[in-house]
Amino acid sequence: MSSSHSTVPASRIIQPARSFRGSLALPGDKSISHRYAMLAGFASGTSRFSNFSTGADPHSSLACMEAMGAKVETEGRTIAVTGTGGKLSQPDSDLNCGNSGSTMRMLAGLVAAQQGTFRFTGDESLTARPMERIRKPLESMGAKIALVNGHAPMTVIGSELQGIEFDSPIASAQVKTAVLFAGLQASGSTSIAEPVRTRDHSEHALRAFGAELQRRDDRLHMMGGQTLQAIDATVPGDMSSAAFFLCASLLFEDSNLVLDALGMNPTRASLLDVITAMGGNIKMLDVQEQHGEMIGTIQVNRGRGGLRGIDISGQLSAQLIDELPVIAAIAPFTAGGVRIRDAKELRVKESDRIALVVKNLRAMGAEVTEHEDGLDVPGGQRLHGGTVDSGMDHRIAMAFSIAALRAEGDTEIHGAEASSISFPEFFTYLDELAVR
Ligand code: S3P
Repeated sequence: MSSSHSTVPASRIIQPARSFRGSLALPGDKSISHRYAMLAGFASGTSRFSNFSTGADPHSSLACMEAMGAKVETEGRTIAVTGTGGKLSQPDSDLNCGNSGSTMRMLAGLVAAQQGTFRFTGDESLTARPMERIRKPLESMGAKIALVNGHAPMTVIGSELQGIEFDSPIASAQVKTAVLFAGLQASGSTSIAEPVRTRDHSEHALRAFGAELQRRDDRLHMMGGQTLQAIDATVPGDMSSAAFFLCASLLFEDSNLVLDALGMNPTRASLLDVITAMGGNIKMLDVQEQHGEMIGTIQVNRGRGGLRGIDISGQLSAQLIDELPVIAAIAPFTAGGVRIRDAKELRVKESDRIALVVKNLRAMGAEVTEHEDGLDVPGGQRLHGGTVDSGMDHRIAMAFSIAALRAEGDTEIHGAEASSISFPEFFTYLDELAVR
């Protein structure tokens, strides 16, 4: 099972397109796949997942669970995970999280109450990302965690945990999840409040695997000492992968895009409101629920109106954090420009996404102003083809491949293969959907 992507930069040339049309079902959501991999590995029994993410990151989570005693088998397009019945074993070697912050942060919570020593490593990007945010709450529950200057390599020594009342200072679903996974195994109750409501896949997944948790007075409450049982599930298509194609469909007047079996969890679907505000027409064709997650089919086109600008700040920035790079990348083509604020977290993602968006927009000839917590991109601009540096960040590689569809001339994306972290099929689908 691959746990990290190749580090050899490969370039891709993206040619301009005339339109963007077609229909597809996207591979499973990265965030949900991580949680299903971890909870299935922890639960009793065999879980089966269809449409599990094809991205390298959730496969890092699967590999870590395997290293701690879970059994992972691929049955055609289904992944079967036989869990450890709540008892993870100490791995023989380091748990390699590759490029995946979700794997490292959420697993820290899952192993904190287990017996043994668990050492986590990752690639160059991951070992530069902040980990204090999980060490603090987990240590206040009794966990023992060692970091190097606030970063991985991270060593967790399993300990007995007590529940806590945690008021998270950061809007982070990964931090919330680490505390929930630890609270599940702690003595007493745990409650969590967040500054902004972040994606709630962990809450749905925990309930699906049989845990009880409640939301009261804007806090999550759960009792410790709960056990989990295996489930069967279909992972909904990834909205954050869909974002690239949704934004591409905004770039052309006669676009038409149909996305089947797409995850539409309300904590992930703010992008649909943004697409509408920017001039897209969205039709929901069918919506169903499975294990608390909404799955539906949508049809999107831009229609005759122009592409409008937008201001994004506050709670919306936190909820759109993974989609902001592609929204910024298409901003020059809007009439009114795009202003993004309250998005400082972008600086500590797989790369400094504010700095790289600014650098690459300029490389394609756009005017842009950088702010500590966002950026301003004036509208009514033209882009020329240029050389884009992905910084080996999947979302930067894909965001600028979309901007390149409306550039004058070809664009070269350096480090294009980083897309395999969340969406290995991206360039194949892009070629199918772009009308040239
Ligand atoms: C994720 C949460 C977000 C997001 C990441 C996936 C998750 O990170 O950027 O891609 O699955 O919980 P933070 O928790 O750091 O905001």
